[in-house]
Amino acid sequence: MIHCIKIYLVKASRITVSCSILIASLIGSSSCENDVGPVIIEPENPSTVSYSQDIQPIFNSYCSSCHDEFHQYLDLRSCCSYDQLLNSGFNAPYLNLDDPQQSRLYRHLNGDLLIMPLFGSLPDYEIELVLQWITEGAQNN
Ligand code: HEC
Repeated sequence: MIHCIKIYLVKASRITVSCSILIASLIGSSSCENDVGPVIIEPENPSTVSYSQDIQPIFNSYCSSCHDEFHQYLDLRSCCSYDQLLNSGFNAPYLNLDDPQQSRLYRHLNGDLLIMPLFGSLPDYEIELVLQWITEGAQNN
C-alpha cells in the first residue's frame, strides 16, 4: 500500500512550489510472507567460458546417458565431446562460429531443432553458457 502526501508550499510571490512525498507503507507486510516464492539463485556466467570446466560437465550430466559408446550404432555419440562436436555425427560440425545462434548444437538446446536433452531441456543459463562459449570462438580450453 502506498500513501501519497502532497505538500504545497505557496510563496507569497508569483512562484508556487509543490512537491510530493511518497511513503511506501509497511502496513500489512506480515500478510505478504506467504506470497514469497522459492528464491532461485542462478550462478553468474563467467567472463570466459572454459570448455573443460563449464561445457563438458553439462554434456556429462545431461547428454551422456543417451549419447555414449553404447549408442554408437545410432551415431548418437556424435555429441558430446569437443572433437565430436566439430568432426563427427550426421550433421557435424554442430558449431557455426560466424553465426553462433545458427549452430545446430544451440538450436537443439533451445528447441529450434528437436529439443535436447530429449524429454527435457537445460536450464536457461546453461543454454546461454553454451552460446557464450560458441560466441567466444568455441575454444578447446
Ligand atoms: C533421452 C535420450 C537423449 C538425451 C538425454 C539427449 N539426446 Fe540428443 N538425441 C537423442 C536421439 C534419440 C537423437 C536422434 C534423433 C533423430 O535423429 O531423430 C538425438 C540427436 C541429437 C543431435 C542431432 C544429431 C545429428 O547429427 O543431427 C544432437 C546434436 C544431440 N542429440 C545433442 C544432444 C545434447 C547436446 C544433449 C544434452 C544436452 C542430448 N542430445 C541429450 C537422444 C537423447
